[in-house]
Amino acid sequence: MTVEHHPNGVSTRPAKVDDQSRVFELIEQLTGEAVTSDWQGVYESHLRLERGAVVIAENDVSILGIATVSYNMTIRYGGEYCELEELIVDDSARGLNLGRILVQRTIDDARRRGCAEIGLYLVPSTEGNRGFYEKLGFEVLGTEMRQILKADQVIAKE
Ligand SMILES: CC(C)(COP(=O)(O)OP(=O)(O)OC[C@H]1O[C@@H](n2cnc3c(N)ncnc32)[C@H](O)[C@@H]1OP(=O)(O)O)[C@@H](O)C(=O)NCCC(=O)NCCS
Repeated sequence: MTVEHHPNGVSTRPAKVDDQSRVFELIEQLTGEAVTSDWQGVYESHLRLERGAVVIAENDVSILGIATVSYNMTIRYGGEYCELEELIVDDSARGLNLGRILVQRTIDDARRRGCAEIGLYLVPSTEGNRGFYEKLGFEVLGTEMRQILKADQVIAKE
């Protein structure tokens, strides 16, 4: 994954070690949850692109948004598929196409990695983004059933 340049001085790239505090700040904003000691290990694993990744969108001044994904392995695909996990564009930069750029970058990266598909799920608090994802080529395919196993995991996943 390399730096890619987009209109209006925006670029996207994989996250680096130094981006951690800004990435966590944006995920806190998205979920309303405070950072825990477990976040760092996952972040470091994502920097190595092991089972997921963090994509940064920025201009010359600051990080404007992030997208995180997980790469999941399954027998029926004979390999990986990708799940969009966390997506947030800073309040000040919404409506400027950054969400589209970030999602398209995760799609392109997943395709290059050999993933069979990319998906996401909406929860009631993110249902209002359905039209956004439809514009980016996502279609409804079945419904998801879920059972919470950890009491502290009641967060709004993508
Ligand atoms: C959802 C979010 C990432 C969209 O990012 P953004 O940069 O504001 O969106 P973009 O400017 O890239 O929008 C791309 C297109 O989708 C449309 N769009 C954006 N949000 C939309 C929505 N909620 N419903 C329908 N269409 C939407 C835009 O109008 C634009 O359409 P156009 O190309 O026809 O002009 C951003 O609003 C955000 O960070 N929200 C808070 C966190 C969040 O909800 N994250 C996603 C959780 S599922």
